[in-house]
Amino acid sequence: MAARGLKVLVLGGGGREHALAWRLARDESVGSVLIAPGNGGTPAVGRNVPALDPLDPDAVARFAANERVSLAVIGPEAPLAAGLADALERALVPVCGPTRAAARLETSKAFAKEQLRRAGIPTPASRAFVDRDAALDFVRRSEHAPVVKADWLAAGKGVIVADSRAEAEEALSTIFGLAAAGASVLLEERVTGREVSVFGLVSGRVVVPLGAACDYKRLHDADVGPNTGGMGAYSPVPWFGRGAVEQVAAEVLEPIAWQLARAGTPYRGVLYAGMIITADGPMVLEFNARLGDPEAQVLLPLLGGDLGAALLGVASGDRALMEGAIRPPAEAAVGVVIASEGYPDRPTEERPILGAEPAEVSAGETLCYHGATRRTKDGYVATGGRVVTFVGRGIDLPAARSTAYRSVAGVELTGAQYRTDVAARELPTAPQPGGPLTRAA
Ligand code: GLY
Repeated sequence: MAARGLKVLVLGGGGREHALAWRLARDESVGSVLIAPGNGGTPAVGRNVPALDPLDPDAVARFAANERVSLAVIGPEAPLAAGLADALERALVPVCGPTRAAARLETSKAFAKEQLRRAGIPTPASRAFVDRDAALDFVRRSEHAPVVKADWLAAGKGVIVADSRAEAEEALSTIFGLAAAGASVLLEERVTGREVSVFGLVSGRVVVPLGAACDYKRLHDADVGPNTGGMGAYSPVPWFGRGAVEQVAAEVLEPIAWQLARAGTPYRGVLYAGMIITADGPMVLEFNARLGDPEAQVLLPLLGGDLGAALLGVASGDRALMEGAIRPPAEAAVGVVIASEGYPDRPTEERPILGAEPAEVSAGETLCYHGATRRTKDGYVATGGRVVTFVGRGIDLPAARSTAYRSVAGVELTGAQYRTDVAARELPTAPQPGGPLTRAA
């Protein structure tokens, strides 16, 4: 029977959550959307619950049960690591988002590597170290500088791609300096190729491919500057079409999903594989247990069908609902993030932003998703690093890109930082083959 009148609770307060709430509010199956805590822009598509902290699983579970929420959708990774999905499951609230045990695919790189190894899925070779001196010794004896990866959630700051062994040694000091006692650090073989992120819905052993996107992790054009959470994204990826996405779903997401189900920790939620396409074929660099930010902002506006019904299918293990509700995209989308001055280290807050009216339910070609804003009587002010994402939709990437950058040109935020080259490599005039030839971390 078709789902109707769903009351959906979106957990999180960034651009991804604005995009999720916006997309869900458009679905026939969805009656109302609550966003906890939400941000200055999300009241355009639902009701904020500002006092509810997604990092307090028991409080969220109590709220969701009292409000008779039909479906909870968890956006960011930290609440997953805190056991939010577990608490909601205990309270019998249908939830799209993995349990803490299944989310280890993202929260522990060593766990993810072990799952990949067991499933025979290609991934760069790696070794985990808890001892800094042993790791330093390994680097000194290595022929090439390895990639240094924190084995914990590090909010985009846990991967350092070193260009020399000296840089790798420095990276080890930085990462071990942030490590809690007993935490491990991974040293991973550095491989080169084009990077692409592939997303699927997973419920136990059932996998439904969603699509692929490319994101831009470095702050500045041409992939220079510090790593960020993501400064832009586009979808679809012309050189990684629907067939390739389906192949990753079948050859990567499904075997991992089966393995977790067999181990008694079934995965329910969006699973995101960070892939690198090398000369020797595709390899998995990492998993994330959620939609990406800003990848969600470009993927979700493209999806046809009823996302609310599909995510309810994820929560309830209903294959027909999952498969029937999602239609592959027919258009393209480009998203450009506007960040505050000082981001990512010390973002300046409380500056007014103009020309960034939040996407409403009826918004079409031009979308502005708020990530870190607060509404005041005079408009909006920035409250953090990634303030808004402007998304353009169009018949192809060049059209979508023009639309996105037209919106960017109209924004006023003192000290704003943004990239001017999002999706530029996919323009017909770009040198071919496009894409990052070395990984950007
Ligand atoms: N944009 C990368 C991420 O969400 O992890």
